[in-house]
Amino acid sequence: MRHYITVGILVIVAAFGTYFGLDALELMPEAASAQAGPIDWLWNYQVIAISFLFALIVVPLVYSLIVFRRKKGDTSDAEHIEGNTNLEIGWTIAPLFIVMVFAYMGSYSLSEVRRADPQAMIVKVHARQFSWTFEYPEQGGFMSNELHLPVDRQVLLQMDSTDVIHSFWIPEFRVKQDVVPGRVTELRITPTLINLPSQPYKVRCAELCGSAHYSMESKVFVSDESTFQQWAAEQLAAYAAAQTPEAKGELLAKNNGCFGCHSPVGAALVGPTWKGLFGSQVQLSNGTTVTADEAFILDSILNPQATIVAGFEGASAMPAYAFTEEELSYIVAYIMSLK
Ligand code: CUA
Repeated sequence: MRHYITVGILVIVAAFGTYFGLDALELMPEAASAQAGPIDWLWNYQVIAISFLFALIVVPLVYSLIVFRRKKGDTSDAEHIEGNTNLEIGWTIAPLFIVMVFAYMGSYSLSEVRRADPQAMIVKVHARQFSWTFEYPEQGGFMSNELHLPVDRQVLLQMDSTDVIHSFWIPEFRVKQDVVPGRVTELRITPTLINLPSQPYKVRCAELCGSAHYSMESKVFVSDESTFQQWAAEQLAAYAAAQTPEAKGELLAKNNGCFGCHSPVGAALVGPTWKGLFGSQVQLSNGTTVTADEAFILDSILNPQATIVAGFEGASAMPAYAFTEEELSYIVAYIMSLK
């Protein structure tokens, strides 16, 4: 009996120690969405259950190893135990009950997280190797490579992918959703905290999607409604102000994530830089050399796999973009202007 009491006390102490120890590690970033509430609530109870189970297994194990170890000179057999029906019924029913409670809590949490606001603002999310583009159909239809959201207003993200499976994840908002080619997946987020423009959150891709998966990130800004509307108006104005083909091309390249792989200032990223590309001699992976003229640049966008620049054989396939002929001419004009 003495052993049961000692182990019981040790289990309780170890369970509390594990729970508060894990809590002190601050595993979660700040909770910045309405959806984070029910998720963190469920997570907390799971950590409590995990801490208790951990203590329940490890404490008796270690206690037995120390207290019931073989004494010096003792060569007798241990007591033979046939089984214990009551114990087996107990350790079947108790976990079953706990699992059912968590199933109920999980479905409650999920229904809270997916609660739809009919007034939700729609933002379309386009994912590709290796960038995100955000389209704002309700603010005039412009594109952005940053996600800007007004605080305390639910946003409905309608997400698609042009190539492989990606996963949309902003840790501060907790929720995560796969982005799958060939269908539109949805995610609802209600930001509850305004972040400093100098400390944006990040959209991360949480699905290994190729060689530059790690770099598939975008900044997330949460502001008050008027700042958001002002930003949207600035984006629309930038579209209107881009009069020359080069300026239009730059805007298209920026907002379609081209700079995620192609630097306009000379750095070699996943793909070759655009700086000084036009008119230069380009070594191809098949050993030949071509002059990067207008036709070569256009063909490299339309048929990215037809010719691979030497040194970039290992890079993941560049996706085929659905640009109009007009848009293509702007982008080519922009690349040609990068001397
Ligand atoms: Cu997209 Cu990883």
